[in-house]
Amino acid sequence: MPPLLQDRRIVLGISGGIAAYKGAELVRLLVREGARVNVVLTESARQFVTELTLQTLSGNPVATSLFDLDQESKIGHIRLADEAELLVVAPATADVIARFAHGLANDLLTTIHLATRAPLLLAPAMNVHMWEHPLTQANLRRLVDTESARVVGPADGELACGYTGAGRMVGPATVLEAIEGCLAKQDLAGERFLITAGPTCEPVDAVRALTNRSSGKMGFAVARAARARGADVTLVAGPTALETPLGVERVDVRTAAQMKVAVLERATAASAVVMVAAVADYRPEKAVAGKIRKEKAGEALTLRLVRTDDILATLGRERRAARAATPVLVGFAAEWAPAARSLGAKLRAKGCDLLVANDIGEAGSGFDSDTNRVRIVGPDGSEDLARAPKLEIAHQVLDRVVPLLRRPATRPR
Ligand code: CTP
Repeated sequence: MPPLLQDRRIVLGISGGIAAYKGAELVRLLVREGARVNVVLTESARQFVTELTLQTLSGNPVATSLFDLDQESKIGHIRLADEAELLVVAPATADVIARFAHGLANDLLTTIHLATRAPLLLAPAMNVHMWEHPLTQANLRRLVDTESARVVGPADGELACGYTGAGRMVGPATVLEAIEGCLAKQDLAGERFLITAGPTCEPVDAVRALTNRSSGKMGFAVARAARARGADVTLVAGPTALETPLGVERVDVRTAAQMKVAVLERATAASAVVMVAAVADYRPEKAVAGKIRKEKAGEALTLRLVRTDDILATLGRERRAARAATPVLVGFAAEWAPAARSLGAKLRAKGCDLLVANDIGEAGSGFDSDTNRVRIVGPDGSEDLARAPKLEIAHQVLDRVVPLLRRPATRPR
């Protein structure tokens, strides 16, 4: 399966504001994902970023004018409008939003907006008072109502004009996530996904803890992919510094016990639970209050560890006991050379529908890596996926979850 944005045609309008530099970074991210990007600069955006920068980053000529004969013969504004699968404007100034909302076609970008059938995504950026002005809000509402425009941001923060408040364009990585949401098939619309991610952290005393090397990247990728495909997503995350994927509800926990409570509370409402978290299998029997001191502990210190509750196996048991077919249950397993082991026993022991085994024994896979190589085990056998970025692996795992959601027997009763 090609990556989600591979060869997708995106017209990126950059309008004139300080945040135009973020548009340049967005081009880089899109090109890295394999998208075909045509940049359209408004006249005022040319004061902030150069055509040369954007042409170099996008690998395509940059369009700036309706009336430039050379550009029109090379790019052609109607062809751009016709071929676009998505029109993104980032940053979108109050002026561009107003002109779009009133159907103006007085420059190249507004003309493409009227001429294209592609959906519209706006990433507004402006002064907080301009953003809050009822006319700007009415203009945006009009675009949302009349053409289902999507809007990402703006964020709160320090603004270039010196004010603090809403009006900052969201970061390019966030716009990229919103673009994924616009272009992904919406085959998980109406589904509720509960996803866990990251390590857990089991206290030894007030300053020490037992944890593991999980970065959370794989679980966050599954959450991002499920959200892009239209699911309502709740992400129960162990300690990690990763940013919450766009549109995902996040619940932070530290210990396996806290993760269990957070998951069990929400599992019955979920159509699928994907347990990506590396939940500690053992925890110190008793966390010592205060700090364990060397002079007291002596030359050797023995910690007695006890098993934690297996959250996934608990869900599997509860589902079986209730004779329920939902939620669909997906486990992950950290394995050295998964191909060499039969994972069917683990699948049955956990009572889950799919088990995704990460190969943690090889470079470019498993903990903290940006790519992964997995084997997916189901009741009817297993399948090895080629090494790929974690987001792509996430989409491929979800492709295998979709038919389970659609099985008549697995619909909620
Ligand atoms: N899991 C869980 N609760 C635990 C431990 C693990 O829900 N207390 C879930 C994990 O989120 C993951 C799967 O079970 O989906 C991993 O199973 P586990 O038996 O821990 O696999 P490994 O980490 O591979 O452990 P082992 O070394 O015992 O094979």
